[in-house]
Amino acid sequence: MSTLHCVKIILINMQIPMLNLSREYECMKEDIDTAVQRCFVHQHWILGKEVEEFEKAASHYLGSTHCIGISSGTDALVLSLRALALKLKGKEFFDSSDEIITTPFTFIATSDAILRAGATPVFVDIDPRTFNIDPAAIRSYLERSPAGQVVGIVPVHLYGQPCNMDAIMEVANTYKCFVLEDTAQAFGARWRNQKVGTIGTMGAFSFFPSKNLGACGDAGMIATDDKILAEYVRMLLQHGGKDKYNPEHIGYNARLDTLQAAILLAKLPHVDVFNEKRRAVAKWYDATLQSVSGTEIPYQAEGAHHVFHQYTIKVNPDNRSQLCERLLAHGISTNVYYPKPLHTMVVFGAGRSRVGGSLVHAEEAATHVLNLPMGPFLTLEECTTVAQAITQEP
Ligand SMILES: Cc1ncc(COP(=O)(O)O)c(C=O)c1O
Repeated sequence: MSTLHCVKIILINMQIPMLNLSREYECMKEDIDTAVQRCFVHQHWILGKEVEEFEKAASHYLGSTHCIGISSGTDALVLSLRALALKLKGKEFFDSSDEIITTPFTFIATSDAILRAGATPVFVDIDPRTFNIDPAAIRSYLERSPAGQVVGIVPVHLYGQPCNMDAIMEVANTYKCFVLEDTAQAFGARWRNQKVGTIGTMGAFSFFPSKNLGACGDAGMIATDDKILAEYVRMLLQHGGKDKYNPEHIGYNARLDTLQAAILLAKLPHVDVFNEKRRAVAKWYDATLQSVSGTEIPYQAEGAHHVFHQYTIKVNPDNRSQLCERLLAHGISTNVYYPKPLHTMVVFGAGRSRVGGSLVHAEEAATHVLNLPMGPFLTLEECTTVAQAITQEP
């Protein structure tokens, strides 16, 4: 039997996938179906009224003055950075001498966007407990850098856990850096009492289908309280100008799709309940896994309202792949986010990025983390099955 055939059979028999989107759909079916049907009635597929309605609803939900629908989370990062270059430097793109500090332990899009905006990513280490960028490492790099060399910071609220935004904003204000929060994994999470994505200069969101608020295709959003940045973003997303037949900037076709906006509008009222359900699932996992030797459960930082986009444990790297195989044999899906820190990727070589200090914690995380099935509709029984399969002797 071919490997592909084996994989297919395993997928068909998968009892506990990483995320069960069908269960979410079942719960919101009527709202989603009605929203989609409405689009077929009005047929305004490009920037239909649902886009504006979703932007308004998201602004209200997040407490942000401007929310702008974008085609994806990746595009939201790129357009945010392009708008920042236009406002802060009066240039279409940053220069490669402009440095932007970020984490090496994230999805590639975070740093790829920095390259695409013309700047140079500088990777600093993470806090090994939260996996989020370490504010002390940011400060240490800034203290060693010539004034003005670092223009901004891109923290990522990884796995749904907010970064320490007090410390990040303090260091950003001291060194006059912008902060672009990569909020792709943390819709609805709060740092102290504020929604993440609204604390820094700008926030970039992803509505990739598996996210806590997920569309039925690619979708994203930018949040900001800055009117000028919002205006630049609105120009950039539609070919670079207010008049698309005579644009003044190098733009994109990066609009949020009407159909996706309609679906997001229908799903938004459920997001808090879903996030609370994810937190309850995390508690079940914590209770069953906390005493399992060789397994470390997620750490929740004080002040961080974690929305568990992922439930991530740390395991012994020597046993990690064996453990994944064992879980797979039980029909349990797992994943490793992320197996390779960004500074070790080919694309960030050849002088395109810089290493801003020891990255030992990011490297260690890449070999130790294991993401377990997570979602608002995972049952206690399923959590117990996962925990039992982890505890079982090999
Ligand atoms: C941390 C992070 N940043 C950015 C992105 C990019 O979002 P999208 O897939 O919507 O382009 C993702 C999506 O997976 C992500 O997890």
